Amino acid sequence: MALSDQIETLRFQFIEELKETRSSKDLESLKVKYLGKKGPVANLMVELKTCDAGERPQLGKLINQLKEELESHCDNSLARIKSQEFEAQFAREWLDASLPGRRQNLGRTHPVTQMLQRILDILIGMGFSVQLGPDVDTDYYNFEGLNFAADHPARDMQDTFYLSPDLLLRTHTSNVQVHVMEKMAPPIRIVAPGRCFRNENISARSHVFFHQVEGVYIDQGVTFADLMATMEEFIGKLLGEKVETRFRPSYFPFVEPGLEVDVRCTRCRGQGCRICKHTGWLEILGAGMVHPNVLKNANIDPEIYTGYAWGMGIERLAINFYDIPDIRMFTENDLRFLEQFS
Ligand code: PHE
Repeated sequence: MALSDQIETLRFQFIEELKETRSSKDLESLKVKYLGKKGPVANLMVELKTCDAGERPQLGKLINQLKEELESHCDNSLARIKSQEFEAQFAREWLDASLPGRRQNLGRTHPVTQMLQRILDILIGMGFSVQLGPDVDTDYYNFEGLNFAADHPARDMQDTFYLSPDLLLRTHTSNVQVHVMEKMAPPIRIVAPGRCFRNENISARSHVFFHQVEGVYIDQGVTFADLMATMEEFIGKLLGEKVETRFRPSYFPFVEPGLEVDVRCTRCRGQGCRICKHTGWLEILGAGMVHPNVLKNANIDPEIYTGYAWGMGIERLAINFYDIPDIRMFTENDLRFLEQFS
């Protein structure tokens, strides 16, 4: 075939193939196929050398025209197809940027833990260090070592959860007193937060499961005045300097003398309300001077050392502090309740 015919045939073939090309990828291959180094247009250039010298300039021009024409066809089509492809992708991957975001629920600290942290922050600041004791303990640490008489009602199955005749769920954090006095030598100045369990009827104000913080201070020359001053200082920091306190004599087998500390009702300021059962006072902790028998049980000489101890219920404090109507709310895991304590 004459070279000029070959040129025309190639042009025709290319146009036909171009019509069938739909994607940019196919178009790229088409371009390589016709215009690549070993493609038909390059071949024509090779063949040109075998042609008659007189015809060469004219034919060369035709080949170059063909080359430019194919290139511009390819480039135009490519631009068009690419923009179509982009439109299609855009339609496919469409998203509504005005949709509201998905809410992420942030957890927060449980109100009992918040109360506990406040209490510990204050006590650590006053020089106490934190000690932990076991939730499951023996009769000795929970009762015997704390000077409970053998027939004390708290030892009754009705009040205490026993796991075996000797093993029980501690009824108070005072068991930690016995543990620390056994293993530490005075001066002892510790606080012990933890869980306690009592076999009681569950009601709005008492539960079988609750938390306490215990405090113990033992050294030479510790007096009742130190106990009172420490309680005043602590309560002032916890509830505000101005809150009025009241010390009432009370009885716990492991202290002598024993007392209970009340504060002016934080709600009604003493006028009388539901929270303070119309007495104007809230009982917040039990305390006293450590009984000589408790010191002796731990081989601490009561003639040399004296000390004080106190214990308080965290849920009870939190109920008063946050005005919570029912102690059971702490363990129901209702988010509507928990979310209020940020
Ligand atoms: N353990 C006592 C209670 O649970 C509180 C207390 C602790 C009282 C230390 C005196 C001294 O009620």
